Amino acid sequence: MTLQEQMQQWQSSVDKVLEHWLPKTNIEPFKLHEAMRYSIFNGGKRVRPVLVYAAGQALGANARLLDHPAAAVECIHAYSLIHDDLPAMDNDDLRRGKPTCHRAFDEATAILAGDALQALAFHIISNGLKDKLSAQQQLEMIDMLAVASGSRGMAGGQAMDLAAVGNKITEAELENMHIHKTGALIRASVMLGAMCGKQTNSDLLDKLDHYGKCIGLAFQIRDDILDEISDTETLGKTQGADRALDKPTYPAILGLEASRELARELCTDAHATLDDFGQQADTLRKIAMYIIDRTH
Ligand code: IPE
Ligand code: IPE
Ligand code: MG
Ligand code: MG
Ligand code: MG
Repeated sequence: MTLQEQMQQWQSSVDKVLEHWLPKTNIEPFKLHEAMRYSIFNGGKRVRPVLVYAAGQALGANARLLDHPAAAVECIHAYSLIHDDLPAMDNDDLRRGKPTCHRAFDEATAILAGDALQALAFHIISNGLKDKLSAQQQLEMIDMLAVASGSRGMAGGQAMDLAAVGNKITEAELENMHIHKTGALIRASVMLGAMCGKQTNSDLLDKLDHYGKCIGLAFQIRDDILDEISDTETLGKTQGADRALDKPTYPAILGLEASRELARELCTDAHATLDDFGQQADTLRKIAMYIIDRTH
C-alpha cells in the first residue's frame, strides 16, 4: 500500500469516529455545534491521527484501540487552529481553503468552539476507551495529551510565538518555540499510538519519542518554508502571513536553503531512530519523508 492509500484509509477511520463524537448540528446550542463541525470536517490532512495509527502499527496495536486517541488529537489540533487564527493571535481569514472559524461565525463562537473541542478530546479518550483499556492506561493517555496541549506544550509554544513577534530571537529560542507549539502535539500523537501497542519495552518507546520529537520540529520547519515558497491556493491559508506579521520563522532566521537542510537532517535522524524496528515501522519512515516534502 502506498503512503497515500494508507493515509486515506486512516483518514476515513478517524473521520467516522469524529462523526460519531461531534454533537449533531440539530442539538443545541446549534451555532456552537455547527462551528465545531465546520472546523473539524473541512479537509485537514489528519497528520496527527495518521501518526497515532502508524505508531500503533509499529508496536502491533489493535487498530480499533487507536481510533479514539486519533480522534482526540485531531480535536486538540482543530481547537489550536481556531484559536491560532483569531484576531488576537495570527488574525487569519483563510484556513483549509475556507473562511476561518471566526470569519464564518463570529469571534465568541470561535473561542467557544475551540474550548469545546479541547474538552471533547478528553471525553473521547476517557469515555470511548472504557472497557477497552485499563483505567490506568487511560489516565496515562489523558495525562500525555494534557501536558502536550497545555502551557508546557502547545499553548506554551503559542505564548512564545506571540511574545517573539517583532523581536529578534536566537535559533535555539526558535527551536524551543517550534518544539512546543507544534512539536509537542505531534510527539504526543506518536506516543499515544505507542501506548496502545503490545510492546511496552521502554527502549522502543524512547526511540519512538525521539522520532516524534524530530518529525514534530521538521513539520513546523516545513510549515514555515511553505509559508514562504507556496501560494495561497495550494496552502489553503494565506501565503506570506508569517512575513507580514514579522513572525520569527526558520527561513527568516536561517534562510531557505539552511532550513531545508535542517528538515532533511531531522528526517535522517528520525529514520536512524527506527533502526531497531522492522517493516512494521515502514509507514512511520514514509511519514517522516512526507513531512519534509509535503506541498501543503
Ligand atoms: C497546521 O497544521 C498548523 C501547524 C501546526 C503547522 P497542519 O498542516 O497539520 O494543518 P491541517 O490540519 O492539515 O489543516
Ligand atoms: C501554528 O503555527 C501552531 C499551532 C499550535 C496551531 P502557525 O501559526 O504557523 O500555523 P498556521 O501556519 O497558521 O497553520
Ligand atoms: Mg501561529
Ligand atoms: Mg497561524
Ligand atoms: Mg505557519
